[in-house]
Amino acid sequence: MCGIVGYLGKKQAAGALLEGLYRLEYRGYDSAGVAVMDENVIRIVRRKGRVKELECARHLVGNIGIGHTRWATHGSPSEKNAHPHRFGRVVLVHNGIIENAHALKEECLTRGEEFSSETDSEVIAHLIERYLTGDPLLAIKKACERLQGSYALAVLIEGKHAIYLARKKSPLLVGKGEALLVASDLPALGNISHAYALEDGQFALLKGDEIAFYDGELRPVSPKEIAFDREEGEKETLCFEHFMQKEMAEIPAVLARSEVDFATDSRFSDFYRVLCQTEYIQIVACGTAFHAGLCAKEAIERLARISCEVTVASEYRYRDPIVKENTLCIAVSQSGETADTIAAALLSKEKGAHLAALTNVAYSSLTRAADSVLCTNAGREVAVAATKSFNAQLFVLYSVARALAFSRGREAPPMQCFSALAYRALEVAEEVRSWTPFFAAAKSAYFIGRGADYVVALEGSLKLKEISYLPSEGYAAGELKHGTLALLEEGTPVVAIATNEDLAEKTMNAVHEARSRGAQIFLVTTLPGLAAREEHSVLLPPIDEVYSPLISVIPLQKLAYYTALARGNDPDKPRNLAKSVTVE
Ligand code: AGP
Repeated sequence: MCGIVGYLGKKQAAGALLEGLYRLEYRGYDSAGVAVMDENVIRIVRRKGRVKELECARHLVGNIGIGHTRWATHGSPSEKNAHPHRFGRVVLVHNGIIENAHALKEECLTRGEEFSSETDSEVIAHLIERYLTGDPLLAIKKACERLQGSYALAVLIEGKHAIYLARKKSPLLVGKGEALLVASDLPALGNISHAYALEDGQFALLKGDEIAFYDGELRPVSPKEIAFDREEGEKETLCFEHFMQKEMAEIPAVLARSEVDFATDSRFSDFYRVLCQTEYIQIVACGTAFHAGLCAKEAIERLARISCEVTVASEYRYRDPIVKENTLCIAVSQSGETADTIAAALLSKEKGAHLAALTNVAYSSLTRAADSVLCTNAGREVAVAATKSFNAQLFVLYSVARALAFSRGREAPPMQCFSALAYRALEVAEEVRSWTPFFAAAKSAYFIGRGADYVVALEGSLKLKEISYLPSEGYAAGELKHGTLALLEEGTPVVAIATNEDLAEKTMNAVHEARSRGAQIFLVTTLPGLAAREEHSVLLPPIDEVYSPLISVIPLQKLAYYTALARGNDPDKPRNLAKSVTVE
């Protein structure tokens, strides 16, 4: 949700800022801007649209600067609402939401101050300028004390050769190498030797080649260094046209890594002690991660017979959830920065749950809040549509389900070589390319299944909506006849997922009902008998039905990808969305 960058070094800042913004573009891409200071003068270039529209800023002279790529929350996507924002001597970029911006703006207006944007961020520049009588960091602290909501701020002050930072709830990292760099996410820091995370409520000052960190009272504190894989950020799309395509192709490798991690990972063994004491499970998550949680519920309740409640994080946080003794809360989040998931996780912890973070980003805010951390090791996921991270989350959650079962003296079906099954699934799923003309031309689409297949239907539907912009619904196959059947017309595509032998014929009843109303049926199954009956089907390799979502989701991920291409959309950067949703 918006990405911010900063550069202070010996080279021209503009190039480094643009590189950082390109790497952060997944966080928002409706407008972008940079500010570069030279001889105490700050020049700003902003553009509506993607970072490439900002290439004209490359010529800016100066070796200190800040930049921003935006996902609009307040005010339309436009040049005037793009960051950086300036008021007086203060120029800043902001990631987050200022909840009391309206009241603060009214206050500034009564002082005769003018605003040039509709954003909540501009008011921060007004406040800093108002308090700017001596030490800029003190002025920023005073301004921050007036703010409600979340922020990661990078500030330039005309006449001061320094970058000032502040953080509350939105991620902010600083890197040190040949230069000092600032970014919302590690890969955007580029070539660095050390990386540090600002904690909530902290401030930082970048000056010369030094970084100083301060607590909320501006007392110096030691920074928190982050361990990172120097290779990781460098992997690009290579021979793939899109990140989504690359990330789907990586699923077998991700599962192979997971097989190694969770066979030998001692952290998971420590976690086993927690699992032995667990009597109730709550899972909180959003979007695709929520669907991973729903799949986990199926497996946990079936294998371990432990009650597992799965709630969308944005609902959980505003309920008064009941957390019984010995509850384990698993917060699932690829990014570890989703604001709703973090808030729900903290609420559950506050009410006494043991909080486990299941995330793909080891240094994320969620990780720092958790009592136990389970890492997915899926590698960096760039495409807004989550693919390989979902498969990785499933693997870990199924490992948890099995461990819970064992801790109760129960059996669980052995884990097969899922990486090989996923490899085969990717091959056979290419069949869905031939389905795309039906979807590209459709007005809507439906996905149906039962049990875990129903959850996969939800995920397939989300993926299709997200990148193809085709209205779509995931439905419990048995529920279709209770209302939704009325929406089916001649040729409406209905995708049925059937991997559970006991439930397959029941799902096929719904298929027949849909077909009789003119629906065009597409089947994803592990059952050869069923596949043979349908004109359009993908036959997946056999897999124990408890774990089947690990591979049955793959054709649906591909279907969304190819449909997006057929409809002329960019699958990596769908409209109106961002990869990391760090605002409510
Ligand atoms: C998935 O394709 C979506 N982009 C979205 O639903 C995502 O899963 C959700 O925003 C949660 O993100 P997280 O896993 O980083 O918390």
